Amino acid sequence: MSTADLRVALLHGPNINMLGRRPSEHYGTLTLPELEARVRGWGEERGIRVGCFQSNDVGSFLSHVHGLSGIVDAAIVNPGAWTHYEWSIRDALETLGAPFVEVHLSDVEAREPHRRISVVRDLAARAIWGRGPEGYRDALDAILEISA
Ligand code: DQA
Repeated sequence: MSTADLRVALLHGPNINMLGRRPSEHYGTLTLPELEARVRGWGEERGIRVGCFQSNDVGSFLSHVHGLSGIVDAAIVNPGAWTHYEWSIRDALETLGAPFVEVHLSDVEAREPHRRISVVRDLAARAIWGRGPEGYRDALDAILEISA
């Protein structure tokens, strides 16, 4: 498969729509539309089409993931706080039928203990944290590697 064929879903969980108004020492200053535009641009440079989705609602997120099965080649997922406890997100990602990279803007390993727990980590092809927006570029590169 040529990389030009790759379709990647960029999935964000709760409060990620509030980027730009969240603590900048953890999350930087980009808004979600700015972050999405950046990831789309990095995708274009790599021949990857990126489709973006964010929800603050578990049900909407689950339904969206269910609809991606067989449609995408890979996903980049930042489940926000759901990462740490929302088992239904894990179960939905299991139905994706495609590899996903777990990304966190902040250094979740160096913050409060509850942020070190990830209920999706064992399913993820890779996990990247603490790299800010660049973590998403690393995730695209990881997807290219995985799909090669
Ligand atoms: C986050 C880390 C989570 O602990 C937090 O709840 C978020 C964002 C990150 O990108 O660093 O909302 O996933």
